[in-house]
Amino acid sequence: MTRSVIAGVGSALPRHILTNDDLSKIVDTTDAWITERTGIKARHIAGDDETTKSLAVEAARNALAHAGLEASAVDLIVLATSTPDHTFPATATEVQAELGITKGAAFDLQAVCSGFIYALTTADALIKSGQATCALVIGSETFSRILDWNDRATCVLFGDGAGAFVITANDGEEGGIMNCKLRSDGRYQNKLYVDGGPSTTKTVGHLRMEGREVFKHAVTNMHEVIGEILRAADVKVADIDWFVPHQANKRILDTTAGKLGVPTEKFIVTLDKHGNTSAASIPLAFDYGVKQGLIKRGQLVLMEAMGGGFTWGGILARF
Ligand code: UT7
Repeated sequence: MTRSVIAGVGSALPRHILTNDDLSKIVDTTDAWITERTGIKARHIAGDDETTKSLAVEAARNALAHAGLEASAVDLIVLATSTPDHTFPATATEVQAELGITKGAAFDLQAVCSGFIYALTTADALIKSGQATCALVIGSETFSRILDWNDRATCVLFGDGAGAFVITANDGEEGGIMNCKLRSDGRYQNKLYVDGGPSTTKTVGHLRMEGREVFKHAVTNMHEVIGEILRAADVKVADIDWFVPHQANKRILDTTAGKLGVPTEKFIVTLDKHGNTSAASIPLAFDYGVKQGLIKRGQLVLMEAMGGGFTWGGILARF
């Protein structure tokens, strides 16, 4: 049976770092409030010359180098983003051109903060069905462009960045991507959304969120989907070496760890440095975990996310 193996990981961050203290000069907030309520200390903000595409290209190049592969090997690009460079074409095709790839397919996928889970599940399915052999799966975001910088309840939470996986088809090898679960429930679309769009306001719009409502659902949905994955894969929670969660709020991660009965030390945490980078947060955290020597080859890793839509889901993989 063909399996999708994680051959390489990489990431990219904008140059500029915005600290909580910097933010306290822009809106009525404090480092103490942001740290206590979210765990975030700083985030990277894209400059004018840094875009979702440029960050995606840098992350992709780093992932290809980590995998020891040339861009010419890639026959699929799935790019998760809610902040594309243009309404169309897909940023994925712009990345494809920049990397000099002229074969296969490239497309964007939008599931907000769950985008990377959706993209990796899609790439896995296309590899398993024989339609692709080497995929770049990218999460890249410039959420700073859709924030209302007068709204202290949201502008302190998000940051920009990109992360990428190289996924290759491998016959007979154990491990790789073992189980994927995707969920959505559109009844909650107005809890976390952007108040603009080409077909409605003809503007890009700004992010709006009922934070407390999202928090509540995130904890419940994360716990539920992790349970479903563990049962489907016949794996015990204690067997998971690392959890790589979407990085929205340290309190969500701590509550999820508590409900699962696992130590929080098993959770890779980058939100203190990156904030919430939406679809980029999981590959950014995964790459950080690998580069720090925490996540090692052969280990069991559970990735999970929840975001606007609501969308949520998880993936179990042996790295
Ligand atoms: O990535 C997609 C998924 N997103 C999430 O998972 C986000 C989930 N939600 C959260 O992480 C939290 O709900 C927040 C961090 C967004 C907010 O934390 P909270 O503990 O739920 O605070 P709150 O919204 O209930 O606000 C509490 C108070 C309010 O003041 P009053 O009404 O009690 O006087 C807010 O006005 O905190 C105030 N507040 C702030 N104060 C200082 C809100 N934002 C700020 C701020 N600085 N930046």
